[in-house]
Amino acid sequence: QRGDYAHFMEKEIFEQPAALENTMRGRFAADGSTTQFGGLNLSADELRQVDRLLLCACGTAWHACLVAKHLIERFAGLPVEVDYASEFRYRNAPLSPRTLCVVMSQSGETIDTLAALREAQRKGHRVLAITNVVGSTIAREADGGIYQHAGPEIGVASTKAFTSQLLVGAMLALHLARLRSLSFNDGADYVAALRAVPQLVRQALEQAPHIAQIAARYVQAADMLFLGRLALFPIALEGALKLKEISYIHAEGYPAAELKHGPIALISEACPSVFFVTRGELFSKVLSSMQEVKARRGKIIAICTTGLELPADLADEVIRIPDCHEAVLPIVATIPVQLLSYYMARELGCDVDKPRNLAKSVTVE
Ligand code: M6R
Repeated sequence: QRGDYAHFMEKEIFEQPAALENTMRGRFAADGSTTQFGGLNLSADELRQVDRLLLCACGTAWHACLVAKHLIERFAGLPVEVDYASEFRYRNAPLSPRTLCVVMSQSGETIDTLAALREAQRKGHRVLAITNVVGSTIAREADGGIYQHAGPEIGVASTKAFTSQLLVGAMLALHLARLRSLSFNDGADYVAALRAVPQLVRQALEQAPHIAQIAARYVQAADMLFLGRLALFPIALEGALKLKEISYIHAEGYPAAELKHGPIALISEACPSVFFVTRGELFSKVLSSMQEVKARRGKIIAICTTGLELPADLADEVIRIPDCHEAVLPIVATIPVQLLSYYMARELGCDVDKPRNLAKSVTVE
């Protein structure tokens, strides 16, 4: 039941604080510095033997894998490869014996992801599955895994399942990191950041009325660019996918610095850009990408962490999100792009919960 919400997608966007609580429940170790999972079926020693990960998924789940790669490499120091499940199953990927394969699928029924799982197992690898549906085919065939516990998702465009995949990825990164070199204190800070996620998401959701107004001003856009760096590049991809899926506005996601290598040709008043702006070493680089857009009369919507000063007149719209630990920033930064796509599609009168040509789970090749 969708209650007072206009669509299941809207309900599922606003359910995210509760869904994220459920994803974390019972999964913190007693010492407060790491996460624990009941179903990995791998001992700590076996996990220490792993020297590389391969993550496979489709669509939105593939974006979640890209964020997980960033965090696992950053905090656990393990090299990670991310592949589209549909490509992995047909390319002859050389996998070293100590590679751990992980497939990610909200539904647990996506045929390409299932085929990737079987292909990895055929080559002698243990495969873990991150899924939201208990007892799904992928969950049953995997050698172990982590359930997302986000609750059923009805809207075809994934929202709460995506943020719970991001959270599972962040929790797995911490787990692997604490079996390697991450210190107790850094682990404890990471745990505190994870525990804060539902509240941070609640704060981000408070921007909904402001985002609805912005959405109304941009529905005439012919194309839209989403630009972010590092762990927010996959969120740029996700923002573009979400907008395409439900509003049919053409959109693309890029790392902001790639603008000048091609996409800048699209910039005009009819092609607004959404930039993720956060503090850190790349702040000034993102500002200069924004200036390149501004110089070509492109409109800019900045999704910017609190406390950051943007130069006057650079952004046409500013959406604030709370500043937070880099392990959870991708989750918090997802909220405004979900809301923006949702309100734009609604403004255009689109059938948000059942977009044309799409199915909730893709069980054909
Ligand atoms: O159930 P899965 O996570 O395996 O689904 C993968 C994709 O089909 C799915 O994420 C798709 O991209 C969604 N429509 C995204 O909103």
